[in-house]
Formats: sequence, C-alpha cells, structure tokens
Amino acid sequence: MQTSVIADNRQTADGIFRLKLNCPAVAAAACPGEFVTLYSGVNTLRRPFSIASVTDQSIIIYYKLRGRGTEFLSGLKSGAELEVNGPLGNGFPDFCGKNILLAGGGIGIPPLFFYLTRYAEKNSFTACLGFRRSQEIYLENEFRNFTSRVRIITDDGSAGERGLVTDALTDEAASGKYQAIFACGPEKMLEAVQQISSGCNIPAWISCEAVMGCGMGICLGCAVKSTAGYNLVCADGPVFPAQAVQFTHG
Ligand SMILES: Cc1cc2nc3c(=O)[nH]c(=O)nc-3n(C[C@H](O)[C@H](O)[C@H](O)COP(=O)(O)OP(=O)(O)OC[C@H]3O[C@@H](n4cnc5c(N)ncnc54)[C@H](O)[C@@H]3O)c2cc1C
Ligand code: FES
Repeated sequence: MQTSVIADNRQTADGIFRLKLNCPAVAAAACPGEFVTLYSGVNTLRRPFSIASVTDQSIIIYYKLRGRGTEFLSGLKSGAELEVNGPLGNGFPDFCGKNILLAGGGIGIPPLFFYLTRYAEKNSFTACLGFRRSQEIYLENEFRNFTSRVRIITDDGSAGERGLVTDALTDEAASGKYQAIFACGPEKMLEAVQQISSGCNIPAWISCEAVMGCGMGICLGCAVKSTAGYNLVCADGPVFPAQAVQFTHG
C-alpha cells in the first residue's frame, strides 16, 4: 500500500471523472490492462480501477459515479492524500507488428487507451468506442491523437454511429485485416466479442469485471467461471483469452 497525492480530480463527461494521482512507483511499474485499488472511504472495501495512462510521476484513472466509494472519490481535492495499491493483475499481451482492433464500452475504455498509448508505434490500431449517449463521451480526442481510425458509437445515435459497439466490431472483424481484438466493457458486450472472435477466427483478449474484496487473490470473492474451472479476476486476470471465459447468465 502506498500513499499517493491527488494532482487533479475533475468531471470530464456526464457521470465520469478523471483522477490524476502522483505515485511514481506505481507509474513506473504499470502495464496496460493492470489496475489499482483505491481507498474509498471509511468502512468501504478498496475499489478497483484500471490504469488509463501514466506519466513519469503519475497515473490517470477514469471513474464512473456508481455508489458510496466513487461518491467518496469524487469529493477529494487536489493535494489530498489517497492510499493506492498496485499495479495489480495481468495486462494485455505484448504485441508487435499486428493490426489490432480495440473495442471499449463505457467505463471499460481506459485500459485500452493505456495499451494504445504504449504500443502505438509497434502496432496499427482501430478503436470502436461505445457510449450510451453523447454526453457520456470521454477520451475520444485522446484516442484520435494516437490513431486516425476511431469509430464512435452511441446507443441513441446522439453522436457518431447509432447502435452498439459490437455492430461496428462485427463490420471491422469481417474485413479480415485484424490479427487480434482487445475488449473491455459490460459483460453482454464481452460475450458478443467472444462470439465475434470465434466466428471470424481472430483471437481476442477481454478484460473482465467482478466485485472485488481483497484484490489480491485471498478472499476468492472475484471468481469467474472458466473453461478450466474458476479464475480469480484480481490474480489470474483481469485480462483473459476470450475463449477461456464461460459467461454464466445465459
Ligand atoms: C479490474 C477492474 C477494473 C475496473 N476499472 C474501472 C475503471 O477504470 N473505472 C470505473 O469507473 N470502474 C472500474 N471498475 C468498476 C469499479 O470498481 C466499480 O464501479 C466500483 O467499485 C463501484 O464502487 P462504488 O462504491 O461507487 O459502488 P457500489 O456502492 O459498490 O455499487 C453501486 C452500484 O454499482 C454496481 N456496481 C459495483 N461494481 C460494479 C461493477 N464492477 N460493474 C458493474 N456494476 C457495478 C453495484 O451493483 C451497485 O448497483 C473496475 C472493476 C474491476 C474489477
Ligand atoms: S478480490 Fe479477493 S480473491 Fe479476488
């Protein structure tokens, strides 16, 4: 556990906040796909958040207001101290020379952005980014700084294309020009990514979410079904080969 200092904490879209934490040791060790847990108030378990980017001294997190923990975080001011644990978990594969399709839904977009920033010179990228509506769009311009191929999709058509991010993903995957898909977002979306991946024969890696307790492989609270039995999202993931995950909601 380390003490970080909040460099900035502000709302960046409807219900979405950007938090910059000064924590040089975490920033130096972080890889795309990994996460941290943050102190989120008295009598509240530490909450997990993906690392969205790093500088020499800092990490950046994007968080969506959901409940008690994120409400607590949204009230913190620059200069305040915050306990951070990480980086935790595994990352997306370290690829070179590939054409990679990124598919992000809502608050699942940050770890894909971190991968893009770190690997933009080693691979080619197309990003399909899905939001419910235009007011919730964030990170679009930042993605465009690293790749010219960005598709914005909204559920209600208020910006970009109308539909689901998986509609755009289906088009792109059918083109036959990609060697890998990386995805993060709601479970229904990840299940669709799994099907697109097997239908188009493109290997995919998905970052899964689970409600976490310890965040360190001890409490078994984040177990998800896999083809090999059960995996812990915090210790074995959060990134898994798509075909290794068994979705249980039917
Ligand atoms: C590996 C990993 C990476 C994550 N990265 C991010 C990130 O970058 N940004 C971000 O905003 N969130 C991220 N999350 C989810 C984040 O941890 C939860 O949103 C947060 O813990 C909610 O805390 P809370 O106290 O505000 O809400 P709570 O009071 O705990 O819950 C409020 C409501 O939100 C629902 N909820 C809680 N957690 C989740 C979840 N994981 N998925 C869907 N619904 C949930 C609850 O069921 C409840 O209805 C990540 C989760 C994991 C496991
Ligand atoms: S959160 Fe405790 S084992 Fe994963």
